Amino acid sequence: MSETARVSLTLNGEPRTVEIGAGRTLLDTLRWELDLTGTKECCAAGECGACTVYLDGEAVNSCLVLAAEADGREVTTIEGLGSGGRLSRLQEAFLETGAIQCGFCIPGMVVAADALLRETPRPTLDEVLQGLSGNLCRCGGYTRICAAVLRAAGAADVTG
Ligand code: FES
Ligand code: FES
Repeated sequence: MSETARVSLTLNGEPRTVEIGAGRTLLDTLRWELDLTGTKECCAAGECGACTVYLDGEAVNSCLVLAAEADGREVTTIEGLGSGGRLSRLQEAFLETGAIQCGFCIPGMVVAADALLRETPRPTLDEVLQGLSGNLCRCGGYTRICAAVLRAAGAADVTG
């Protein structure tokens, strides 16, 4: 019989409890047990950032975190960034800037950019590039993604 674990966490502000296989990742648990499919799986090896979520306020690759490690902690996913049914300013900026192509990398990009802006509310382009260096966009949409982050930070439009 396979081992299971009970994990209780605060997920996007709500208390949740799940029974999972002991080796299940936080990413798989979010997507398959908790129906939060905004967080994407791509490399499953900590190299692309598609699975970025907040764990106790720190942006992490959820493919590298066991769900059991989230027990008693706070997890925020892309679905939890807005409030009152509205997108966050950063999410709106991604839409306004046309920063989304296939969209697959975008949830992770937005969470990583949100973390960057919390730490550096008025970043330079170099700081945005550095802040998003762990997130890959296979569509190559970096120019508009950076523009979206700068726009959310109140900088002039740099999409050209
Ligand atoms: S899916 Fe987690 S870093 Fe790529
Ligand atoms: S928009 Fe397609 S991977 Fe980034």
